[in-house]
Amino acid sequence: MDQRRQHISPDSRTITSLLEAARGCRFHDEINSLSHQHQEWPAIETIHQVVAGAEPPPDFDIAPGNVQRRPSPVSGNCWSLIRRRRSAVAMDGVTRMDANQFYAMLESVSLLPSHLDLFAHRVNLVLFIHRVEGLEPGLYMLVRNNGQENLRASLNREFLWTRPAGCPDALNLYLLAPGDARAIARSICCLQDIAADGCFSLGMLADFGEPLLKWGAAIYPRLYWECGLIGQILYLEAEAIDLKGTGIGCFHDDQFHDLIGLHDSKYQCLYHFTVGGSVEDDRIVNLPSYHQITGRRIIS
Ligand SMILES: Cc1cc2nc3c(=O)[nH]c(=O)nc-3n(C[C@H](O)[C@H](O)[C@H](O)COP(=O)(O)O)c2cc1C
Repeated sequence: MDQRRQHISPDSRTITSLLEAARGCRFHDEINSLSHQHQEWPAIETIHQVVAGAEPPPDFDIAPGNVQRRPSPVSGNCWSLIRRRRSAVAMDGVTRMDANQFYAMLESVSLLPSHLDLFAHRVNLVLFIHRVEGLEPGLYMLVRNNGQENLRASLNREFLWTRPAGCPDALNLYLLAPGDARAIARSICCLQDIAADGCFSLGMLADFGEPLLKWGAAIYPRLYWECGLIGQILYLEAEAIDLKGTGIGCFHDDQFHDLIGLHDSKYQCLYHFTVGGSVEDDRIVNLPSYHQITGRRIIS
């Protein structure tokens, strides 16, 4: 038995055992350095042509209606939050958040107020929890719609699907597998430390095959809009409690799908995100927002 494995609790279905299953995905070749010139990606233009003008049918965007949530613990001026929001370029690897803050953050992306709830929810969150006080580190699932049974049937049969003690009833949060998820989160996110050094990171797992078959190409950009909305809310919620977030568009979807045991196109991961205590990068210049037009009214 190697050194690493001796530290793993023998009774739990750890992330490590899932990693064993995901080992089929290997990295090949060297990582390229950034190009000096613009690189053409013809697939993006093709997708644009296919989705442009694809009109959704009338039953397409049905929001679930107004939902009740606890008042946010965040108070204060949202304009200042919006203006000071920046992406973290590095996380400190030590900051912990408490479970109440974490649950409030999940409620804010799960129980949207009606004016933000533009679409029926088709995106669920697979969370890599690293440093949340009161929650065991590991892999979790936040189900944002009523599709838990379908998810269970499609994903790794060994997942536990247990509710964490103290989780609010309104949140459909489940522990899938306990364990140290930092290495796999980093690896999936193109070896970016920010996925491992925060309080948690997550992959946004969208319903994919069925909606595409039912509604065609029109669904594709809308799934991204839903991910973008989740990301923007997480950015502001993190900022409001003196943490920071970063949207992560560079990730290996095959490796992520392998980890969760997904082997068809029923679901698709579209975006990752990380939240944690950030490290200031003193190479970045910060100026007050709109400093060049101070004195003029910007938002009435
Ligand atoms: C679609 C998208 C993908 C991104 N992917 C990454 C990423 O893989 N890694 C990363 O560190 N930041 C990523 N970012 C964050 C950007 O680096 C960041 O938003 C950008 O530098 C602008 O900084 P700001 O958010 O502070 O305005 C991504 C942002 C977006 C919108």
